[in-house]
Amino acid sequence: AQEQTILGLESSCDDTAAAVVRRSSDRGTILSNVVMRQDDLHAAFGGVVPEIAARAHAEKIDLAVEAALDRAGLTLREIDGIAVTAGPGLIGGVLAGVMCAKGLSAATGLPLIGVNHLAGHALTPRLTDGLAFPYLMLLVSGGHCLFLRVDGADTFTRLGGTIDDAPGEAFDKVARLLGLPQPGGPAVEICAQGVTPTIALPRPLLDRPDCDVSFSGLKTAVLRARDAAVADHGGLPEGIRADICASFQAAVRAVLAEKSRRALALGPVSAFAVAGGVAANTALRVALQDVAAQADVPFVAPPQALCTDNAAMIAWAGAERLALGLTDGLSLAARPRWPL
Ligand code: KG4
Ligand code: ZN
Repeated sequence: AQEQTILGLESSCDDTAAAVVRRSSDRGTILSNVVMRQDDLHAAFGGVVPEIAARAHAEKIDLAVEAALDRAGLTLREIDGIAVTAGPGLIGGVLAGVMCAKGLSAATGLPLIGVNHLAGHALTPRLTDGLAFPYLMLLVSGGHCLFLRVDGADTFTRLGGTIDDAPGEAFDKVARLLGLPQPGGPAVEICAQGVTPTIALPRPLLDRPDCDVSFSGLKTAVLRARDAAVADHGGLPEGIRADICASFQAAVRAVLAEKSRRALALGPVSAFAVAGGVAANTALRVALQDVAAQADVPFVAPPQALCTDNAAMIAWAGAERLALGLTDGLSLAARPRWPL
């Protein structure tokens, strides 16, 4: 068929999500995109609690599916395939989604399509902007930091990535060190606004020619800068806190910009796309946009709601796999780890 309508399920972290996406001649249309957040359930614990997340996914995933079909104005009879995140992620949540998808597939006879969560992120620029292969993708979130060349819907080349923390994780830890609220990224960005950075922080791995990055040393340097300020002033003065935020953000930006330049120099691509929560950072976005302009390739940043975890990206990746004839049986496994 020229046109396929796919139901997608996502439950690999703390968002229970379902969406319906239609693919016709390489273009995608989002018919519905339901995300049920679990923030309230985890807030008191300062992080996602896997057991609580799994239970909430199991309780909500069928309701998310019902809402997604309802908002699309469709029944299962009008769906052509069931796509589901089969990993990587918190295994209890992934299992809840996979079990639900298997039930739907078994009951309807519709093809079951297991999708790698990272492939979902990486293929989103095709859904939103119709990018042609190959393109360069930088995925920067609380859990991932990855340079990928996307050669096809099932062909990804890892060019580099973090050797320790993800950048969002570093933003969150820096915020905690400086007494700023969570999520740390937006808090650090606001604190740094209009401030000229003056604190010399390391630019890890810039001396290496590859596309790998590291953020744990930067975090330690921030801790040292804070302790030095507290020792000098008996507390953390507002101005120094803002300076640390601005200096940290400048270091992250410099490292990611330089490594993006190197990734773009590895070979021709149709575009440079970014996704993930950290891509919401304005200073970073502007720097990456500059790098793309210098390399003379279009810069693409899908809307924030499609850059963070959602099921529309899973439905779209499922549609791309179905078009290639890549479907799964009821033996589809849920995988906590699953490198692209
Ligand atoms: O992609 P995302 O919503 O969730 C996953 O990690 O899956 O990313 C969340 C991360 C958090 O660490 C958050 O602090 C960071 O993205 N973030 C930001 C900004 N907004 C969110 N980091 C830097 N600047 C921002 N404006
Ligand atoms: Zn994600």
